[in-house]
Amino acid sequence: MTGSAVHPTTLPGADVPAYRTVPFFGNLTNFQNRPIELFNAGLARCGDVVAFPVGPERPVLVNEPDAVHRVLTGNAKNYAKTTRGYQKLRLVVGNGLLTSNGSFWLRQRRIAQPAFHRQRIAGFARTMNALTADMIKDLAQKSASGVARVDFGQEMMRLTMRIVGMTLLGIDVGGRADEVSDALTVALERVDKLVVSPIPFAERWPTPSNRRFNRAVEVLDDVVWSVIDARRKSGEVGEDLLGMLMEARDEDTGEGMSDEQLRDEVMTMFLAGHETTANALTWTTYLLGQNPEALGRATAEARALTVDDIGMAELGALPYVGACVDEALRLYPPAWIIARHPVEDDVLGGFRIKKGTWVLICPYTLHRHPAYWSQPEAFRPERFLDKNKPVTGSYIPFIEGPRMCIGKAFAKMEASIILGQLLRHFDVALPAGLSVGVEPALTLRPRGTVSVELRTAG
Ligand code: HEM
Repeated sequence: MTGSAVHPTTLPGADVPAYRTVPFFGNLTNFQNRPIELFNAGLARCGDVVAFPVGPERPVLVNEPDAVHRVLTGNAKNYAKTTRGYQKLRLVVGNGLLTSNGSFWLRQRRIAQPAFHRQRIAGFARTMNALTADMIKDLAQKSASGVARVDFGQEMMRLTMRIVGMTLLGIDVGGRADEVSDALTVALERVDKLVVSPIPFAERWPTPSNRRFNRAVEVLDDVVWSVIDARRKSGEVGEDLLGMLMEARDEDTGEGMSDEQLRDEVMTMFLAGHETTANALTWTTYLLGQNPEALGRATAEARALTVDDIGMAELGALPYVGACVDEALRLYPPAWIIARHPVEDDVLGGFRIKKGTWVLICPYTLHRHPAYWSQPEAFRPERFLDKNKPVTGSYIPFIEGPRMCIGKAFAKMEASIILGQLLRHFDVALPAGLSVGVEPALTLRPRGTVSVELRTAG
């Protein structure tokens, strides 16, 4: 990729240097097809704060920890989620916790927060272990005659979807998991295309891809409504997240959430609560398959456990397994791009940011920044066992500040339980020569199938 840089002076408050490939819409095709390569080229040429003009817009990528910290924490109030990406994502998840803003978001966050308290999460371990055991039983049957070769991403999607359904929404979606997963893929791929489409209101045209998208959202809606209806018919409130959402009352009016709002929150949790974790586990296992020494160490640690279930207490005995997940989240952060919309002008990294500019943070490039990571491209889980923590703002797989992922502790415990149990029960390997690339869509999925070979441990 060849491009040119326009370097104004770098005085505080100076204009952000712009990286251009071809004039006017030049960056658009690269945004659509090769965003990470585009970012790397712009960063190499222009430095850690760089604009990528696309038509009349000038999105600015910020790849410097202090500036990232300011956007997400220090001056977070100035950075709204009224971006194009979230606007399009609303076509699927509506105006739920992930996509809403301001006082409305804060109220919804306060309602949901108790479902994620440490003690509650500790209580989910039993369900996480039980559902993982179901999967292991199934995989053990498949590998009874030797080795089972499985589509690991698909297995993880099924499992994490069942876990979020059972722990937070009180329903087992096991029977519909593949259907939901396929619908989700169609819906998210379409959203991804819409985000970078130059056609106004592209989602409203009666095209085959929009029809496929609408059908996929109908499938997802059907599942979400069946979750809500089942709870209503049961006549029980339940103490899980769904119960909390259904019981919440507006402080001023005393009214409960509208059906539409309930639908949006359930859809948000259902989607945000499984796809990212499934990707994280797939990348972790892929990286372990490529790094036999790390795989050996993680396997030995998991097999040294003396109890069947892995709970909060046992996680302390699995530091290396946890570090493998942390390191995979560094190299392949599922939320690989974060976008914000400044409400007022600001200064980031010494550069003036005008209100209304799209500000982009790319955890993928940030997590590989050579100034903050030694051997940034290498899989070295032990770096997370070091008592020196990463520089503030340099490691943000769950972001930081008020909009930090509400499911962070849930996801980290879940990932260690699933990975720990898998390594205890199976010898894990990748098929010879397997190498997958990245698919930077809404989340960072592997490009193609991650096949994993499982042999029941002797
Ligand atoms: C490895 C797994 C996960 C990763 C990497 C991840 C990452 C993230 C990130 C980066 C955000 C912030 C997005 C933004 O503000 O632009 C976020 C928000 C969120 N995540 Fe996660 N997440 C994971 C798992 C989960 C789980 C398990 C749940 C629920 C059970 C969940 C629910 C949410 C919700 C509801 C939000 C919106 C929070 C708010 O804005 O108040 N996530 N996640």
